[in-house]
Amino acid sequence: MKILVTGGGGFIGSHLVDLLLKREHVVIVLDNFSTGKRSNLPLEHPQLKIIEGDIRDTDTVFQAAEGCDAIVHLAAVASVQASVDEPIGTHEVNLVGTVKLLEAAKQHSIKRFVFASSAAIYGNTEVMPVSESTPLSPLTPYAADKLASEYYIDFYRRQYGLSPAVFRFFNIFGPRQDPSSPYSGVISIFMQRTINDQPMTVFGDGEQSRDFVYVADLVQLLADAVEKQNPNHLPMNVGNGTQTNLNQLLDLIRDFSGKKLAVSYEESRLGDIKHSLADNRAVCEKMDYHRQYPVALGLRITYDWYLTKSESSI
Ligand code: NAD
Ligand code: UD1
Repeated sequence: MKILVTGGGGFIGSHLVDLLLKREHVVIVLDNFSTGKRSNLPLEHPQLKIIEGDIRDTDTVFQAAEGCDAIVHLAAVASVQASVDEPIGTHEVNLVGTVKLLEAAKQHSIKRFVFASSAAIYGNTEVMPVSESTPLSPLTPYAADKLASEYYIDFYRRQYGLSPAVFRFFNIFGPRQDPSSPYSGVISIFMQRTINDQPMTVFGDGEQSRDFVYVADLVQLLADAVEKQNPNHLPMNVGNGTQTNLNQLLDLIRDFSGKKLAVSYEESRLGDIKHSLADNRAVCEKMDYHRQYPVALGLRITYDWYLTKSESSI
């Protein structure tokens, strides 16, 4: 198949590109490299084409999708906090960009559309774990745009016969997650700061918890969703049903790094969710998803990767 991966130069996207190439697909990456990196990609691979461009640009999106059999739409401003600080800019990428991709799919009669939605759309809920039927409560512009994207995708399904697979990712972590911004994922920040013996900040009391998913488990699922007909057009949670809070995360990092960590606690972030835990029965049943990497194992591999990176940059 010929597959367009938007955001293919990013953390999750580049792992997916590796796997799709391994499965012998032709891959077109569309990325503006705002947070992604060319060095995440196997630049010389004969089955890979990279288009440096922006999903806000209609012509670029239409040209990139031409001749493709499927689209995996991952490009986004991935930080919840960035959307709070800059709602207009993130909205243009996260919602308007999605609509442009959907229009391109329609224009080129591409049916298969895999989309990265987010657990953020559940907000703070009393119900734990959250299933797909838990009432939604998007608390931030990021969450509102992901939810609106889901509604647009469903419109294109009903109106134009799109065959979507929509996944609500919980917290994904692993090698290549970029730790360099205050908006970066917490595990990437904590890992890099541990390795560099720098202090780290916990926003809140550290008791907030997330359902962390190792990236290799996620991309296996995404590649399967590209190749197989999705038996269920409804969105599905991608979490493992295990809860880890930030204090536990720091304990794990302390254990395997053997380091004393310098941790300070500050005010919680606006719109931050306290607990997030997935009921993942739908994805297990419908997509045959099964976790291969428990959190501790994934963390270990990820830590070793950041360690190698820091040694190679000395
Ligand atoms: P990332 O920042 O590494 O990847 C996003 C990619 O999109 C980057 O390569 C970036 O350069 C590209 N991009 C951003 N704006 C663009 C634009 N205007 N035009 C073209 N390319 C653009 O983040 P990630 O963690 O790999 O996230 C991938 C997707 O998964 C995002 O849609 C994100 O919202 C979603 N998601 C991630 C998580 C997580 O825990 N990492 C959880 C839920 C959902
Ligand atoms: C993450 C993803 C988001 C996704 C959501 C799904 C990133 C950057 N964000 O958001 O794309 O949709 O999961 O659940 O990948 N924190 C600290 N110190 C730090 C950094 C963060 O205490 O230095 C805290 C945050 O305040 C938050 C927790 O760690 O309470 C997790 O933050 P973060 O990694 O940014 O993830 P989410 O906001 O859950």
